[in-house]
Amino acid sequence: MRQLTGTFIVMEGPDKSGKSTQALLLVRALRGRGLSVVHTREPGGTSLAEAVRRILLDPRQRIHPLSELLLYEAARAQHTHETILPALRAGRIVLSERYTMASLAYQGCARGLGLGVARTLNRIASFRLVPRLTLVLDIPEPEFDLRPRGRLDRIELEGARFRKKVAEAYRRLSRTEPGTVLLNGRLARQKLHRKILRIVEPLVKRLNPPNARPPAGRGSRPGAC
Ligand SMILES: Nc1ncnc2c1ncn2[C@@H]1O[C@H](COP(=O)(O)OP(=O)(O)O)[C@@H](O)[C@H]1O
Ligand SMILES: [Mg+2]
Repeated sequence: MRQLTGTFIVMEGPDKSGKSTQALLLVRALRGRGLSVVHTREPGGTSLAEAVRRILLDPRQRIHPLSELLLYEAARAQHTHETILPALRAGRIVLSERYTMASLAYQGCARGLGLGVARTLNRIASFRLVPRLTLVLDIPEPEFDLRPRGRLDRIELEGARFRKKVAEAYRRLSRTEPGTVLLNGRLARQKLHRKILRIVEPLVKRLNPPNARPPAGRGSRPGAC
């Protein structure tokens, strides 16, 4: 993997925790400082991954948890290869709404597949790219019903029990995953935005942050084919 001189930042959290709201505010603030920012999302961020998104979020689809995880990972591989890595190689900031931690929280924990399988597939699908910073917005489950509702997608249609598992998983993961900051998603929008800016600014001022581990393959030999 060629050296990545950009900075990869991820916004995570349960549905309606304010990811899109804060991502927009952050992108605007960084661009206002003359920085080059790619704003993207998962599942999505490329033509193929947006097509996979439509399948994943379609309430008419019945999807086994393992198929669900694999679809997210398929979209992630394309997104990472086609959108994120080229931007990081070009020295840009990439801000993605959701990335690997979402698979740990939703499929690994809430769907019950286990963190092991989700971590393994994350590592493969991300080409071992690790975000420089993951911001996790935390809201208590009942907040979901207090925030404005449009038409709910397949994941949002899961009940309160599922959402509670997701929120708890994010809180737990925030304590153990490196490079993660847990933030109170119930703060007023601008107050939360200022907090986020204070965390992000030092990272984007410094040049050439280490974003990625070396590519997989050499060293570990799972067997020839
Ligand atoms: N800090 C906040 N306090 C109250 N409501 C918020 C806040 N941030 C976002 N919202 C509202 O909550 C809803 C979900 O926000 P959104 O940014 O779309 O969340 P997500 O992208 O995480 O699903 C929107 O209607 C948005 O206007
Ligand atoms: Mg959103």
